[in-house]
Amino acid sequence: MTHDLLFQAEIKDSVRQAYAEVSSGGGERLARRLYSEHELAEVPDGAVRWALGVGDPVRYAFLRPGETVLDVGSGGGIDTILAARRVGAEGRAIGLDITEAMCERGRRHAADSGVDAWTEFLLGEMEDIPLPDAAMDVVVSNGVLNLSARKSRALAEIHRTLRPGGRISLADLTVENDLPPEVANDESAWAG
Ligand SMILES: C[S@@+](CC[C@H](N)C(=O)[O-])C[C@H]1O[C@@H](n2cnc3c(N)ncnc32)[C@H](O)[C@@H]1O
Repeated sequence: MTHDLLFQAEIKDSVRQAYAEVSSGGGERLARRLYSEHELAEVPDGAVRWALGVGDPVRYAFLRPGETVLDVGSGGGIDTILAARRVGAEGRAIGLDITEAMCERGRRHAADSGVDAWTEFLLGEMEDIPLPDAAMDVVVSNGVLNLSARKSRALAEIHRTLRPGGRISLADLTVENDLPPEVANDESAWAG
């Protein structure tokens, strides 16, 4: 790309396209680095193979039965399914993703896990979350906020959807120094 990647809509489109086209997840090896044996036994193989995160936000969300949880940028659904298991059938787990292919994968993996009755996957953007105000007890996200060119807007949306006193558990990447221009302006580096 030769023009300035600070154009927010272009960054979003380029990230969306990258994830719409991704043909595999991080695989079992990545999943084993992030999740415990016990957690991996709670999700179907497909969701394990499609893990693309950087941490284990559900572990630190300390979810309780009956809670309502949103997983922002849910991908293949591994964290949404783990959250669904923690909140149980009296609760609700919602995955949100910008690509229909990821939402479909999440739905399939949730059905394979038997948590689909109280789990759903919504197509949408973290910068404009298609949920009402104060609807969630907890928001989790894994390796997604770094992909947004509008991080403050995404965080404001997360805040809007949380009820007063709600909780957030994020696993993500940060940069401590300015990136060199050849990295900052590289489309695949942003999405990757
Ligand atoms: C690195 S993957 C992480 C997936 C999942 N959280 C996990 O841990 O396996 C990033 C995910 O965020 C989604 N995504 C990217 N930009 C998004 C946006 N603006 N709004 C919602 N989802 C987005 C991608 O489609 C992809 O599924």
